[in-house]
Amino acid sequence: MLNVKKVSKIYQGKVACRALSDIDLTVEDNEFVGIMGPSGSGKTTLLNMIATIDEPTTGEILINGKNPHHLKKDNLAKFRRRELGFVFQDFNLLHTLTIEENMVLPLTLDGKKVKEMKEKAKKIAENLGITEIMNKRTYEISGGQAQRAAVARAMIHSPKLLLADEPTGNLDSKSSKDVMEMLESINRTEQTTMLLVTHDPQAASYCNRVVFIRDGKFYSEIHRGDNRQAFFQKIIDTLSLMGGDFNDFS
Ligand SMILES: Nc1ncnc2c1ncn2[C@@H]1O[C@H](COP(=O)(O)OP(=O)(O)OP(=O)(O)O)[C@@H](O)[C@H]1O
Ligand SMILES: [Mg+2]
Repeated sequence: MLNVKKVSKIYQGKVACRALSDIDLTVEDNEFVGIMGPSGSGKTTLLNMIATIDEPTTGEILINGKNPHHLKKDNLAKFRRRELGFVFQDFNLLHTLTIEENMVLPLTLDGKKVKEMKEKAKKIAENLGITEIMNKRTYEISGGQAQRAAVARAMIHSPKLLLADEPTGNLDSKSSKDVMEMLESINRTEQTTMLLVTHDPQAASYCNRVVFIRDGKFYSEIHRGDNRQAFFQKIIDTLSLMGGDFNDFS
C-alpha cells in the first residue's frame, strides 16, 4: 500500500532545518499503523509528505506502487481526493456549513449528484452514530462529535488510505475512545489502511503496530498482538526509554 523509501526532509529557511533523515516505512494493505515520537521529531512532516501536501528533499514515497508527486497538478488533486482521506486535530470543518454539508464536500468537488451524496452521507452517519447532528452547525456540537464528523467526511469517498494527525488531541478521554473505536471499526469493515500520528498511548494502543521516531530518525517499532492492554504498557515503556522530551507528551 505505502512505501516510504529513504526519505529525508530539509526545510530551507534562514537556518536550514533537517526534519527527517532516511526514513524507511512499509505499510501493508489494511494495516493500522501509529506514529509516535516527541514534539518536533518529524511526525507531521512525514504525514504531510505521504499526504502529498509537501515533497521529500530526497528519497521517494510510493502509494500503491506509484509516486503521486510525478502526477500533473490536476491529476494530483484528483488522486488526493479519491485515494486519500485526512483527519486533523482541529477537525477542519467549515463553520458556515451544516455537518451534512461538510460531509459531502469531497463529493461535491467530484461533481456527484445531490441524491447520491445524501444517501451516502446518511449511511455513513448511521454507521458512525452521528445522524442526530447532521443538520447542526459546527458550533452546536461537541468536540467529540465534530471529530466523528471529520472522520465521516474523510470516509465519504471510501479512501484506500486514511491519514490522521492527532485526531484525539483536543478530546477528553471518553470522546477520544469513541473516535478510536470508530477508526478501528472502519479499519476492520472497510479495509481502509490507516496511519495515525498521536501523542496518546491509549489512542496508539488501537493500532496494529506503532513506529517511533526521534530527532527525525527511526527509533523502533512494536506490534500489538492480541492483547491491547499489554500493548499499551509496551508503548508507555518505549516512550519512557526514548526519554528526553517525554514531558512533552500531553
Ligand atoms: N514549514 C516548516 N518550516 C521549517 N521548519 C519546519 C516546518 N515545519 C516543521 N518544521 C520543523 O521540523 C521539525 C519537525 O516538525 P514536525 O511538525 O514534523 O514535528 P512533530 O513531530 O509533528 O511535532 P508535534 O508533536 O509537536 O506536532 C521541527 O523541528 C520543526 O520546527
Ligand atoms: Mg505534529
